[in-house]
Amino acid sequence: MCGIVGYIGKRQAYPVLIKGLHRLEYRGYDSAGVALINPAGNLNVYKSQGKVSDLEDTAQHQDLTGSIGIAHTRWATHGEPNFRNAHPHLSQFGRLAIVHNGIIENYAPLREMLRQNGRTFKSDTDTEVVVQLIEYLQEKQQLSFQQSVQQTLQMLQGSYAIAVLDKNQPDTIVAARKGSPLVVGVGDDELFLGSDASPIVEYTNRVIYLDDEDMVVLHRGTGANTSEVSIDLMTVSGDRKQPRIEQVSLDVSQLEKGGYDHFMLKEICEQPQSLRSCLQSARRTLAGEEAGGIFTLLESSQRVLITACGTSWHAGIVAKYALEQMVRVPVDVDYASEFRYRNPVITRGDTVIAISQSGETADTLAAIEMAKNQGAKVLSICNVIGSSIPRASDKVIYTMVGPEIGVASTKAFTAQVSVLTMLALLWGKRKGTLSGARCEDLLKEMDTLPEKIQQVLNQQPAIRRMAETLSFASSCLYIGRSYNYPVALEGALKLKEISYIHAEGYPAAEMKHGPIALISQEMPVVTIATASDIYDKLVSNVQEIRARQGRVMAVVTEGDTEVVRMADCYVEVPRVSECLSPILNIVPLQLLSYYVACLKGCNVDQPRNLAKSVTVE
Ligand code: F6R
Repeated sequence: MCGIVGYIGKRQAYPVLIKGLHRLEYRGYDSAGVALINPAGNLNVYKSQGKVSDLEDTAQHQDLTGSIGIAHTRWATHGEPNFRNAHPHLSQFGRLAIVHNGIIENYAPLREMLRQNGRTFKSDTDTEVVVQLIEYLQEKQQLSFQQSVQQTLQMLQGSYAIAVLDKNQPDTIVAARKGSPLVVGVGDDELFLGSDASPIVEYTNRVIYLDDEDMVVLHRGTGANTSEVSIDLMTVSGDRKQPRIEQVSLDVSQLEKGGYDHFMLKEICEQPQSLRSCLQSARRTLAGEEAGGIFTLLESSQRVLITACGTSWHAGIVAKYALEQMVRVPVDVDYASEFRYRNPVITRGDTVIAISQSGETADTLAAIEMAKNQGAKVLSICNVIGSSIPRASDKVIYTMVGPEIGVASTKAFTAQVSVLTMLALLWGKRKGTLSGARCEDLLKEMDTLPEKIQQVLNQQPAIRRMAETLSFASSCLYIGRSYNYPVALEGALKLKEISYIHAEGYPAAEMKHGPIALISQEMPVVTIATASDIYDKLVSNVQEIRARQGRVMAVVTEGDTEVVRMADCYVEVPRVSECLSPILNIVPLQLLSYYVACLKGCNVDQPRNLAKSVTVE
């Protein structure tokens, strides 16, 4: 949420910052802005409501010179998404500019104190309070740039990633993080800042992931030493730290659309490859050196607590079915936002599995910190290497599907479910609750999933036709049972978030306890009715819908004869074991929501009000 980019070096900063903002636009797209210090020492700020391309239009005839700058793409928290509230924000006397990602919880009393001391505010944001406070302390206490930022940070409650410019120090950027991510890129004679590594990898693969409450001063030499850059890393309370430079291996082409109309479609269609890479990597992790530690952690637990948000939470429910069936271990699944605040019973015998694509979701991060403090061990399933959640966990299994940029999560879900299912199989085999032969059969079957997903992708024309019918609905239900109940939840989430059609996911049998009252010809019911132990029960549920003139759109197994007779339209998927079916069954539902959104003219990759990587609670 909100993207930050920074640059200091010898190049012109503006093109680096704009390109970086485009890379980070998935994090928010309400407004964008840039601040540059030009060679004459002027601090120029340009901003615009809307997208980064709007900012480019606004800035095009302005002075864009300068080899130091910071930039921001916003997902609004405090204050409407308009020009006034766009970042960067300037201090009262225009000496400082700031960009910020996060929420300052005590901004109101700080703003009041500053008001009483003569400061006036131009925006409704919490961020402007921070920059005003820095300048106020600089003047009142005669503090240096660095000291005043440091002192300000000590007064803040909440979360932040910030980058600050001071026009009186045109060779320095001060940046810091607490609860929101920030990465420093280390080039030969230049330094970068990014909310993640994506704006940086084009220039260098050497990065420093800042820890919570780290502050960093990026400095460029002056005069004869302009080619020298230096990094001072310290904690917000002033303890010096040694920067640890890590290598990132991110292929820039993974950050492009690669000929597809949207990132979402690209990410749906690349699932055969992404899943193959995920399965290989998970297999290596669970058979290699790391495996001992992971299974020791799991095997010492009496109970598993899964915590996550959104799509990742849906993957968690699939995992509950798999772990309970194969390992016979009790599993609870909680929204991280509820888990962290409802005072759950956590004991030393509990293992928390945290699932997160981004590794930065604020609620999930806070939930695992809370669980660790109460003695639980944490295993995370994560996609973004080096992100906050794996770093806060005892163990991690990466899903390794490459960057997911479309705001609606797709390839991350199939990967999360696959990793968790593989974990359940191998743990079950070790524990003896699943026979070795059955485990091997299912692992072999997992290897066929990429090819089977491709077969589903080949049916895009049929799914597009289904989408034409669905696009006229104003509301719809998704139903499934057992392993495919969470698939119903996920299918409904996909539809509502990108097409704005109201959709609810339900366990099919729960229909008659309320939602069946909604059934009419106007409300389609998307039914996941693939082969399973309780297929017949599902058939009865479909009959109940038909008896009430409901319209059924079904996902069925190839060769199905019963549900297809009752369905208005259907898509066939290859036969797989029930415990693996969510990985296949979600794919037509991803495509269905994609095509509905396209037919409705919605912005698929940047749905309204949403952003990827939810770093505020
Ligand atoms: C929906 C979606 C969100 C995320 C949720 C958690 O398509 O993407 O519901 O799943 O914000 O994000 P991560 O997995 O990054 O923790």
